[in-house]
Amino acid sequence: MYSTALFLGVLCTLSLRALSSPVVSADYDFSQVVLEASPVQPQREYENGELPPQDHTLGWVDPRLNGGRLLDYTTRRLGEPLNVIISSLSDPFVLTESGLHIYAKSIGFSEECMGLHYGNIHEADLGDGEGRKPEQYLARQDYFPVWGTCWESVRGGHHFRAWRQNGTIANSGAWFLGCNSSKNHKIVPNGYNLGRDYLVEQATAGSHWKGMWWQAEVEWRAGLLERGKRGVNHGIEQDGRVAILTVYRL
Ligand SMILES: *[C@@H]1O[C@H](CO)[C@@H](O)[C@H](O)[C@H]1NC(C)=O
Ligand SMILES: *[C@@H]1O[C@H](CO)[C@@H](O)[C@H](O)[C@H]1NC(C)=O
Repeated sequence: MYSTALFLGVLCTLSLRALSSPVVSADYDFSQVVLEASPVQPQREYENGELPPQDHTLGWVDPRLNGGRLLDYTTRRLGEPLNVIISSLSDPFVLTESGLHIYAKSIGFSEECMGLHYGNIHEADLGDGEGRKPEQYLARQDYFPVWGTCWESVRGGHHFRAWRQNGTIANSGAWFLGCNSSKNHKIVPNGYNLGRDYLVEQATAGSHWKGMWWQAEVEWRAGLLERGKRGVNHGIEQDGRVAILTVYRL
């Protein structure tokens, strides 16, 4: 049983290699990092550590300034925390779609097995004028380099979904990531915090891929997300902290 699974994993990876087409690169104009002023927000109460929208951020825009939020839309009401931001002060390469794929590989994530999606496509509203948009990228942890992501997809592990803040209202170019951990397709208690911390550890430790080397600096932000489980998919508690990463090319 065990060896059959391994064998399938190997097969799967081989055919993935054989079938995969070149990554399509979408280039991005970095000249226009515009940080918009906030419109007047209706009065509301902030609870559990959440603070009002933050106006002066460098390299990303608080989605709440323009009606967005730091929970994605997994269902119409519930969401998963967008708990990592890759600021647009990062290496411009990492801010492109193909660059993020390669950077993700360098920190131990890779694309989904054969393009198969496990679970729904999530949407997120980054307050950039595009409303809710579907995720642009899903990466899963590749912790057995030989057998690849198929094996991981069966067993679980760390993964993230990504959206780029590039609508006209807040065209920062930053990536917003929803990270979590799961095991055998079940989310684990504390899974959102664990998934985030895992990614941050890899990024700040430094990584490389084919001659490109990176190291990230992290700034922890409280107040963007309410801590706890209100509105959170699977009712999993999370601590409300968001890691702002600036990824430097070494
Ligand atoms: C925003 O980024 C996404 C992901 O790379 C891309 O598909 C989309 O075309 C970009 N949108 C604009 C308006 O540039
Ligand atoms: C988190 O894990 C659960 C369970 O595997 C899954 O349904 C969900 O899509 C995952 N979320 C993200 C952001 O990867």
